[in-house]
Amino acid sequence: MRVLVIHGPNLNLLGERQPEIYGRMTLGELNEFIATSARDLGVSVDCVQHNGEGEIINAIHDARTGYDGVVINPGAYSHYSYAIADAIASVAIPVVEVHLSNIAAREAHRRISVTAASCVGSVSGLGPLSYVLALRALAQKADN
Ligand code: DQA
Repeated sequence: MRVLVIHGPNLNLLGERQPEIYGRMTLGELNEFIATSARDLGVSVDCVQHNGEGEIINAIHDARTGYDGVVINPGAYSHYSYAIADAIASVAIPVVEVHLSNIAAREAHRRISVTAASCVGSVSGLGPLSYVLALRALAQKADN
């Protein structure tokens, strides 16, 4: 099984960006953690990061030919991007949304995810483990 992990805007600054909320792991370290966990699950994984909405939409479109599923952290786009929600709804492969922080426990504008509604499920608030649980869900879905 091949999974594409898409990190959205500002996640390139992980480690230095509000570490009290997002932790001290850099994006490189997070990707290594994801890759190690994916190996244990027998999943082949590629990780990309895009700040732009259009780049994320293109990555979702392109994933449908080379991947069996997508794990996406759309960052702040989660809260208002109907274009990304539409892109997720437009591809037949399963997409799982993840968040490092618990968006349900944060400011009012973060409590709604318009993109999660287009996904098969979402994992929020568990730090790097959110990504691993999403990968695990995709791997298990592929088995069934
Ligand atoms: C985030 C939560 C979003 O509200 C925020 O804009 C992010 C990161 C998370 O992973 O917790 O950029 O998606």
